[in-house]
Amino acid sequence: TTYKQPYRPQYHFSTRANWINDPNGLVYYDGEYHLFYQYNPFDSHWGHMTWGHAISRDLVHWQELPPAIAEEGSTMIYSGSCVVDKANTSGFGQAGQTPMVAIYTGAQPDKQSQHIAYSLDKGRTWTKYAGNPVIDLNRKDFRDPKVFWYEPTQNWVMVVLLPTDRKALFYKSTNLKNWVKGGEFTATDTPATVWECPDLVEVPVDGTMERKWVLLLSMGNNAPAGGSGMQYYVGRFNGSTFINESKSGDLRYVDWGKDYYAAITYNNLPRRGNRGAISIGWMNNLQYANDIPTTPFRGTMTLPRELRLAKVQDPMVRYELRQQPIQELKPLLGTSFQWTGTDVAQLNESLASNNLTGDTYCLQLELEADKTGVGVRVKKEEALPGKGEETVIGYDPAKQQLYVDRSRSGQIAFKKEFSGRFTAPLKPQNGRISLQIWVDRSSVEVFGNNGEVTLTNQIFPKPNSRGIEFFGSGLRSVLIRSVEPIWK
Ligand code: FRU
Repeated sequence: TTYKQPYRPQYHFSTRANWINDPNGLVYYDGEYHLFYQYNPFDSHWGHMTWGHAISRDLVHWQELPPAIAEEGSTMIYSGSCVVDKANTSGFGQAGQTPMVAIYTGAQPDKQSQHIAYSLDKGRTWTKYAGNPVIDLNRKDFRDPKVFWYEPTQNWVMVVLLPTDRKALFYKSTNLKNWVKGGEFTATDTPATVWECPDLVEVPVDGTMERKWVLLLSMGNNAPAGGSGMQYYVGRFNGSTFINESKSGDLRYVDWGKDYYAAITYNNLPRRGNRGAISIGWMNNLQYANDIPTTPFRGTMTLPRELRLAKVQDPMVRYELRQQPIQELKPLLGTSFQWTGTDVAQLNESLASNNLTGDTYCLQLELEADKTGVGVRVKKEEALPGKGEETVIGYDPAKQQLYVDRSRSGQIAFKKEFSGRFTAPLKPQNGRISLQIWVDRSSVEVFGNNGEVTLTNQIFPKPNSRGIEFFGSGLRSVLIRSVEPIWK
């Protein structure tokens, strides 16, 4: 019964009970993908921040373990990252053991500083370093360290924020304990007044031998859909600072929906060809995260995504993020409904006669971007035709916009900022738009044109609002596959 509640995500990670926010310490080690996260062990609202812990062998099926790093006195354990210290640079390893080292913000009411802890048993138990904090600037706001190993100079690199200054600071270290300040990055074109949870990651560029560095930043406010969201810059890293190559004012957003925050990427992934980075985000918005109507848990992670870059000539060369759900999700895809044609009424009839009104599924649509709007209504309340609940995903050819409208998606009144229609700019490719839409009990993640844009949104429909209905004249093909639950 643990994972059976009406709004319980069936193939996204959530905890059995209580509050979660940011994913922390994403790292692969010895057959296990670790997912740590901001967790309140006592309540389903934010507080007592502790690193909760889950592991997976495939990035899809998760097992929740006991909390990993607990608050101590008035010091809460805020967001951060985790590395596998193979060469035992930290000296925490004993008798040939490889330490896992967590680097996080120790948050006191009037000060935030960077701390470390280590584990010698694959992340099950942790010891806080006696010499904490390892970086202390005596600042009230100084948080969210992301650490990675930098091959060219054989040292650790940290990117960490002065959130209210919207400034990223870079540090380096040979032992994870002593840190030397490198450069800084700030951007005058950001609409956000606060940055959180940075990540700096090298990403392959499709169709080339190139790799570029992407600086991911969570925006505390003024994101395109309102409230919190994420932006990124593309450029170089010289070992001590990030050099932005994105044009100033040419803002790039990671996601155009309302619920995509604090995403960071995995450290120490097994090398597999030219695979991109893998990220997980928190599917929520700071405007209402404490108010969403779920119980006994509050907070969900997004699907893991593979991040790549595309080199776009438009008319100048520019690098744009491309995001796709990871391949590992494929085994969850089950029975399918397939259709090609032009007659939407006929499509809706054959869908109805197939009785395909699932709870969790993945839709793959090919649309012709003609003059009329086109799209699909999901989680439709059949009892009240034209009036009941529905979440609308569509394409507006006149405006060249992809949209998700959740203004009638179910429960929306718990916070006025929740309701709305959210758009992303998207141009047809050879006259076509392709959409991949992942529907779970309480979310809809849309990937447009193979991950050119994404829109991630929570929804809270009634359990029996299960209809699927297509509209407009541009539909050309439809594939619907059920998605198996990941929980037993
Ligand atoms: C982002 C954030 C981080 C902080 C953590 C505290 O959601 O505010 O900046 O480390 O959450 O829970």
